Amino acid sequence: MDGSAPLPAILGTGQTLIRPVQPLDGPALAAHVKALSPASRRNRYLGGVNELSAREIERIVTGHGGRLRAIVAEAEGPAGPVVVGEALVAAGTAPRTAEFALSVADDWRRRGLGTRLLARIAWLALSFGASRLAGETLRDNEAMAALAAANGFDIRTHPEDARLLMIERPVVLPALVAGLAAGGPGARACFADAA
Ligand SMILES: CC(C)(COP(=O)(O)OP(=O)(O)OC[C@H]1O[C@@H](n2cnc3c(N)ncnc32)[C@H](O)[C@@H]1OP(=O)(O)O)[C@@H](O)C(=O)NCCC(=O)NCCS
Repeated sequence: MDGSAPLPAILGTGQTLIRPVQPLDGPALAAHVKALSPASRRNRYLGGVNELSAREIERIVTGHGGRLRAIVAEAEGPAGPVVVGEALVAAGTAPRTAEFALSVADDWRRRGLGTRLLARIAWLALSFGASRLAGETLRDNEAMAALAAANGFDIRTHPEDARLLMIERPVVLPALVAGLAAGGPGARACFADAA
């Protein structure tokens, strides 16, 4: 996989569609982040962001010169499609590691959307040549820690910041393919069982 081909859209959970972000998604992405509760935004951006800057949105929707890939989960709202989840993955600083982050709209939690976004992100990590997928989360972010644990991530204290946990998991192509062959987009089936 060379990472340059557009990803086909796949169905997410029931009424949602998970697809690659497009340049025109900027306003919908910004609206999603703005609509998150302050606690959710704190968790998503590790404390510091109230809304996305125009520059950050541009970086996300254009892929930052091939250094980043983003996906959105879209649902049908009363006035048309709305973004109800987003996730991004970028080449990490450690060798063969891709870093990710995600959020799901507050009203859309516990329906498996975070799990499906994670599964999709694992595929995208391969396009960076990564064999490991890593993220950082606030120590008190119970939802993310639970999501990570449910999907087999190792969870440990960040070596440089005691406020944070590091979550990490191998991603290996045969396991991703096996997950698809098994018929489920769930992250458990899409991650490798061993490093
Ligand atoms: C973390 C987050 C993405 C989870 O999204 P989600 O769509 O609710 O996750 P899922 O429905 O796929 O949950 C899968 C499993 O994770 C665990 N889990 C998720 N949220 C949980 C919570 N609040 N409490 C306990 N377990 C939770 C459960 O085991 C759940 O399975 P179950 O619902 O069958 O019990 C979402 O809470 C979120 O967007 N939080 C704010 C942003 C954030 O924290 N981002 C992470 C930092 S980058």
